[in-house]
Amino acid sequence: MPVPGPGYSITVRLEAPPSASAAGDLTSAVGRAGGVITAFDVVESHNDRVVIDLTCNALSANHAKDITDTLETLPGIVVRKVSDRTFLVHLGGKIEISSKVPLRNRDDLSRAYTPGVARVCEAIAKNPDDARRLTIKRNTVAVVTDGSAVLGLGNLGPAAALPVMEGKAALFKKFAGVDAWPVCLDTQDTEEIIRAVELIAPVYGGINLEDISAPRCFEIEARLREKLDIPVFHDDQHGTAIVVVAALRNALRVVNKDIKDCRITVCGVGAAGSAIIRLLQAQTPGDIIAVDVDGIVHRDRPGLDSNLKSIAESTNRDNQSGRLHDALVGSDVFIGVSAPNLFGAAQVATMAKDAIVFALANPDPEIDPMEAQQHAAVVATGRSDFPNQINNVLAFPGVFRGLLDAHARTITDAMLLAAAAAIADVVDGDRLNASFIVPSVFDNTVAPAVAEAVRKAAAAS
Ligand SMILES: NC(=O)c1ccc[n+]([C@@H]2O[C@H](COP(=O)([O-])OP(=O)(O)OC[C@H]3O[C@@H](n4cnc5c(N)ncnc54)[C@H](O)[C@@H]3O)[C@@H](O)[C@H]2O)c1
Repeated sequence: MPVPGPGYSITVRLEAPPSASAAGDLTSAVGRAGGVITAFDVVESHNDRVVIDLTCNALSANHAKDITDTLETLPGIVVRKVSDRTFLVHLGGKIEISSKVPLRNRDDLSRAYTPGVARVCEAIAKNPDDARRLTIKRNTVAVVTDGSAVLGLGNLGPAAALPVMEGKAALFKKFAGVDAWPVCLDTQDTEEIIRAVELIAPVYGGINLEDISAPRCFEIEARLREKLDIPVFHDDQHGTAIVVVAALRNALRVVNKDIKDCRITVCGVGAAGSAIIRLLQAQTPGDIIAVDVDGIVHRDRPGLDSNLKSIAESTNRDNQSGRLHDALVGSDVFIGVSAPNLFGAAQVATMAKDAIVFALANPDPEIDPMEAQQHAAVVATGRSDFPNQINNVLAFPGVFRGLLDAHARTITDAMLLAAAAAIADVVDGDRLNASFIVPSVFDNTVAPAVAEAVRKAAAAS
């Protein structure tokens, strides 16, 4: 059951009579409407009335409206204004650029800008590698999107994708000190995207592709990796794969199974699912059964595109066909990155003993986690209101910190696996249990551990 959360938080400014019972009436009304009050501030007081800012969490935008309507029906209450706190956070954007050098007088100006800067330009022209030493390149990442697959919302275009990219940039800075900048391209043409990223690449030490829909994201990433001398990382693919592999490593420790003996059903073979399968394969699991909207991916299935074809050829040892429910029978692990509400407890009961279920479709998972728990030994979701949240924030800041520090020019599976192992190892044996297979996203030891692992893997490659 979802609970009211800060994603739908409103502040209602209202006038109330100055009676002793007014506060109680207001809080009971919010409670009756299913909201949760988080702040109650009297902002003005008069003999005949008080003005109150009532802040509460709701379940959805409609629920927030219901709460406000309920307040308006109370005798003597006048609602003056409703502010959506999420929108308030976004006013004017969430990030900014600030200068690292003093610009107090003419001397400062002459060194940071003209004429002094000219000598630095000439040095870089002579030795382009100096760009990493003398510019922002060494610490800067472009967060590139075309807005074609924004969160779970679909093709919203580049401007509507910007709040997500700003948020991503803020997370890069907060967790790893990386200066990331949103680059929202006004094109969804594969060639134009590749060319645009190629043209802006000189400024950046890495490219983080974001919210670009499958299957175009595969070609865009592969071609950019060939063309550029900086690492290119599609977070929806590899960030997810890293955290899933980390979580699975610890879940298998909880149930005492070896991945080499496990049958793993992966439902969803888009951006996330394809990358998860490929990173799992680097660990030679017993078998992987891939399932998409058309059922189990097998070698005789007609109409496979090149991505599905290569997955069909490298998974599903017995070339099984059928639907998701067939794939689940006897599986040790289910990993869902597909669509909401695809199965229930009855299907989990058909899985192997001590089953592991990662139902990661957002915002609603493939199976209600409470149902999954009836038969599974370990359950994880993408949700923050349930234990074991699989969240890419555990991976991408540390991955790029490590890549930038190593001056890496490419990114390899060995680096991704090193990052996964580092995340998993943050949860030591004393803390590991079925409800704690991944560290908290606010555990500030995660990003440094991931960065260190990626730096070492880069040095070894
Ligand atoms: N950390 C996380 O929790 C996390 C990370 C990445 C993606 N996700 C979630 O995973 C889902 C997929 O993301 P994506 O970027 O890979 O999307 P995508 O569009 O690239 O791929 C979706 C895949 O799901 C399959 N699918 C759709 N409906 C299905 C059904 N009824 N039965 C079986 N398969 C079905 C499609 O065939 C496709 O292979 C989204 O809900 C996303 O929010 C969660």
